[in-house]
Amino acid sequence: MACALFLLLALASSRFAGADEAGYASWRARGFEIPEPLGGRKGDPARGRAIASDGARGNCLACHRLPLEGLEAQGDLGPPLAGIGARQTVGMLRLHVVDQSRFNPDTVMPGFHRRPERLHRVGKPWRGRPFLTAQQIEDVVAWLATLK
Ligand code: HEC
Repeated sequence: MACALFLLLALASSRFAGADEAGYASWRARGFEIPEPLGGRKGDPARGRAIASDGARGNCLACHRLPLEGLEAQGDLGPPLAGIGARQTVGMLRLHVVDQSRFNPDTVMPGFHRRPERLHRVGKPWRGRPFLTAQQIEDVVAWLATLK
């Protein structure tokens, strides 16, 4: 009984947070945009910048040149991201980071918050989890939006 109650509470609180226990929040694209923030989260640009330049998390700099000083060995597989916030809507930025394959089915860019069943050949620690949680996606998107 206590156990069932605890389970209900846990379910209710994760529902409330808008994401499951792995940090995944379902999303819906409209055209080439995801208009709604994932799980209703509010992004923090400072945290987003840290995630983007962290090789263990976003690792965006493996493929993109980011407008950050003092970062060496930035990638050039993808386009530079300087000024991206002036060229695209927040909803488009969100879809790029969540699932770039919606723009280009052959992309090499990982889908950072793809539907879990659409991920293939995933290492054990990441099975059933998105690469970035709903909150981390919103943080990165908030940072990209500041790049004007
Ligand atoms: C493995 C390489 C790779 C990684 C890692 C990667 N990207 Fe990309 N990204 C690309 C490529 C290549 C493109 C160009 C479009 C395409 O081929 O899909 C792209 C396109 C984009 C675009 C659209 C740019 C435009 O001008 O339309 C955005 C925004 C973007 N990436 C953001 C990110 C962010 C943020 C991260 C980190 C969370 C990231 N990318 C990680 C390879 C990568």
